[in-house]
Amino acid sequence: MELYDVMRTTFACREFVPEPMPEETLQRIVEHARFAPSGGNRQGWRVINVTDAALRERIADLSLPAATRYLLQMQAGESPLNTIHPSAVTEEQVAQAARPDWLVEHIRKAPTLLVVTVDLALVASMDKDLDRVGLVSGGSIYPLAWNILLAARNEGYGGTITTWGVACEPEIQALLNIPPQWAVAAIMPLGKPVKQLTRLKRRPVEEILFTNSWDGS
Ligand SMILES: Cc1cc2nc3c(=O)[nH]c(=O)nc-3n(C[C@H](O)[C@H](O)[C@H](O)COP(=O)(O)O)c2cc1C
Repeated sequence: MELYDVMRTTFACREFVPEPMPEETLQRIVEHARFAPSGGNRQGWRVINVTDAALRERIADLSLPAATRYLLQMQAGESPLNTIHPSAVTEEQVAQAARPDWLVEHIRKAPTLLVVTVDLALVASMDKDLDRVGLVSGGSIYPLAWNILLAARNEGYGGTITTWGVACEPEIQALLNIPPQWAVAAIMPLGKPVKQLTRLKRRPVEEILFTNSWDGS
């Protein structure tokens, strides 16, 4: 596929045809995705292909509490899980709410499930002393995750970066034998899309690109 077509049509795919992804396709996807950048080119990444059904079920279950919190915060008109505005949704409300299983269905049912991990000892966290949530660390792993989705699209597949499960990182580490120093960055269902979207909703360039200052022309 043409690069710009891939970039414009790689959507968050959550519904998959029940058809396994051939091992050689996954190999090819990661073979190309590995050219992603990382701080200092440290490449402190490891991707786990979770094929065991019981492990997948457990990962989906572990994603449910954060998915519930996300949904309640959305319903309250909040920007979910942001670190600037405190949430009005209480832990009690989250604990009592019905579990939105439909939100994690794609984790249970995807033909392929990848868990993307990163060695925190190899991540340059340039913003670690700033008084705000860390952003730069993610830059050493999410380009790989995104490259996986771009390569999957090029192969006729789709998927999603999901992060709900990250809220239960210690449990996922224990489940998959991930050392404590290795963070879980993403849980990625992959497969053949039931429907390929081609017109993604994104803000126009005039709202993104400015000259010389944040509020420049
Ligand atoms: C950092 C990050 C975290 C995300 N976490 C989740 C998640 O936990 N669950 C989920 O279903 N989608 C998750 N997504 C997918 C986004 O919701 C999706 O990329 C966005 O809504 C755009 O969707 P579209 O490409 O289909 O328009 C995440 C995406 C990113 C980049």
